[in-house]
Amino acid sequence: MTQPEGERPSDGQNEERSGRVVALIPAAGRGVRLGLERPKAFVELNGRTLLARSVAAVRASGVVDEVVLVVPPELVDVVRGEHPETTVVAGGAERSDSVRAGLAAAGDADLILVHDAARALTPPSSFTAVVEALRGGRDAVVPGLPVVDTLKRVDADGTVRDTPARGTLRAVQTPQGFAADVLRRAHAGAAEATDDAGLVEALGVPVQVIDGDALAFKITAPHDLRLAKLLLAGEEIG
Ligand code: C5P
Repeated sequence: MTQPEGERPSDGQNEERSGRVVALIPAAGRGVRLGLERPKAFVELNGRTLLARSVAAVRASGVVDEVVLVVPPELVDVVRGEHPETTVVAGGAERSDSVRAGLAAAGDADLILVHDAARALTPPSSFTAVVEALRGGRDAVVPGLPVVDTLKRVDADGTVRDTPARGTLRAVQTPQGFAADVLRRAHAGAAEATDDAGLVEALGVPVQVIDGDALAFKITAPHDLRLAKLLLAGEEIG
C-alpha cells in the first residue's frame, strides 16, 4: 500500500510495493477524427478491434490482475459478451469522465494503469516496464519518447512566442501508471489536463518518465490507421 500523503518522500520514490494491479482502458471516444462510422476502439485492424488488441497486450504482459473497459453506453452489453473476463462500464462525454467511471469500478486496486484503447499496437513490455517502476516505489510513471521535431509555442494568430529546448521535451504515451490513491485524488479535483499524469502533476506529485515505445503511437487520424495496417502486414488474420 502507498504511504499516506505527508509521509511520502518528496521525490515520489517510496519503498518497494506489492499489491493488486488494475488496468483501465478508456475506449468510449467517438473517434471523430478517424472519420469512420463506428467508435474508434471498435475499428478493426486485420480482423481484430483496437480494443481487443489492447486487451490482449495487457493480458500478455502478465502484470495485471484485473482489466476494466470503459466503452460507449450503447456497447456495454456487446463488450461484456466479447470480453467476459473483464469488467465493462459506460464512459462519459470527455476522456476524464470515462477514466472516472473506470476508477469507480476499479475496487481495491493498489496500482492503476490507464491505457488508451487507441494505442492498439503497444507491446506487452510497455505494461511490464511501468508496473516495474511503480513496484520500485514510484507514485506516477509515464512512458515517453524524445521529440524529433522542433516545437514552437504560438499565440492565437500563429505568431511564434518561443521555442522550448527540444532536449527537455518528451512525447508521452500510455500506459500511464499510478498508485491508486494518487490517481483517485487527481480525478477528485477540478483541474483539467489532456492526460492523467497532468492531473497528478497538478497535485504536486512527481511523475517519472520512462522510455516509451514507438509502437505505442495513438491511432487518431486515417494516416495512423494506414500506418498500423502496414506495421501489421503479414500478421495472420484472426
Ligand atoms: O480522443 P482521444 O484519441 O484522445 O482518446 C484517447 C482514448 O480515450 C481513446 O481510447 C478513446 O476511446 C478514449 N476516450 C474515452 N472517452 C471519451 C473520449 C475518449 O474513453 N469521452
